[in-house]
Amino acid sequence: MRIAIDGPASSGKSSVGRRVAEELHFGFLDTGLLYRAITRRAIDLGWFTAPVTAAEVAGAAYEQVRSDLTELARTTDAQGSGLSLTMVVGEVSLADTQLEAADVELYVPAVASIPSVRDALRAVQRNVAARGGSVLVGRDIGTVVLPDAECKIYLDATAEARSARRALQRGFSVGSSEHQSILTSLIARDAEDRARPVAPLVAAADATIIHTDEMALADVVEQVVAEARKVAR
Ligand code: C5P
Repeated sequence: MRIAIDGPASSGKSSVGRRVAEELHFGFLDTGLLYRAITRRAIDLGWFTAPVTAAEVAGAAYEQVRSDLTELARTTDAQGSGLSLTMVVGEVSLADTQLEAADVELYVPAVASIPSVRDALRAVQRNVAARGGSVLVGRDIGTVVLPDAECKIYLDATAEARSARRALQRGFSVGSSEHQSILTSLIARDAEDRARPVAPLVAAADATIIHTDEMALADVVEQVVAEARKVAR
């Protein structure tokens, strides 16, 4: 069985997906890490000199960058098995901590808006899903990567609830200036992910939508596991 979990930034997809996979003894892939890995490499290689939007990256000035990013995507893989896959771009393995940095979040929607990058990464995602029971989390898993997934979930929550959760996870108080900048960056990233012409963030028509504002993590996990068991019967 393949479980597709989509939703906006910081909607709890990774925490929920990982726990669901653990409970069902499935493999787990956070597909956002693939896009983050390529973005991390491009920043480290000096390909971006200033923040760029999805609209800008589609223009003629970025033709070489688009082509270079696509080459990077073709050498990208999620290596390992089970719950702990490592993102590898070319010969370079990237730790999750390197992928969570604020500069990555600034550039990643533009990188993820490039159709040829998405094509290359789709193959990686489908390979992981083909290994057996799997949970994939992202933006377009139920709509594009695994449109025939047996179980589709869309996790939603207000930007306020999501940013507050993320701030607390990072040790900042709700209402702090750090919380405010997390909220601003999350709203900008969602807007770019929803507006892009290719594989935008949207719930699949056949997804079960779970609003998590008032829910504890354990309750969301329980509901997803119950949905999966329902379709397995
Ligand atoms: O989920 P996460 O916040 O790590 O994703 C980082 C970025 O990667 C998203 O903002 C989005 O631009 C891109 N992404 C995507 N499709 C996916 C997963 C992530 O476009 N399936």
